[in-house]
Amino acid sequence: MLLDAHSGFRYLVLLLGIAVIGYAAYGMATGRPYDNRMRILASSFTASLDLTLLAGLAVVLTGTFYPQLAGHIVMMVLAVAVAHIVSVVVRKRPLEERTYAPHLVSALVVLGLVVFGIMAIGRPIVG
Ligand code: HEM
Repeated sequence: MLLDAHSGFRYLVLLLGIAVIGYAAYGMATGRPYDNRMRILASSFTASLDLTLLAGLAVVLTGTFYPQLAGHIVMMVLAVAVAHIVSVVVRKRPLEERTYAPHLVSALVVLGLVVFGIMAIGRPIVG
């Protein structure tokens, strides 16, 4: 059940990641001022990564581990760290100095790490 949950959460991560990229790209292309929806989307993306990480940790604690899994775990922990660091850096800026670009770049990096992390254990990204 934990593995099913962990596996299923990937879709939440992928969907929210794509939503962050789309919204940030739209904001940059139109030159709109930074808004609250961007902050909420980025926080939801980070929360979905945290949830998936917790479920993954629980799967490991219930006894699933083999050397190939180390690549998966390292990539995913890096992805979660990047999402958190960028989120904190943006939040520390005054509202009028916040921009969409860090969200766009970090979501691309995070999704790249997630894709490689899934491939590291030979599983399909979708399906
Ligand atoms: C946070 C982003 C993460 C994502 C998106 C992710 C995604 C996935 C996916 C798609 C699978 C394959 C599930 C399947 O076969 O149906 C998987 C398996 C697994 N993941 Fe993660 N994972 C993440 C982080 C982690 C972390 C941080 C850990 C451990 C601390 C972990 C531990 C595992 C384990 C133990 C498996 C089972 C491998 C197996 O059955 O052979 N994952 N993960």
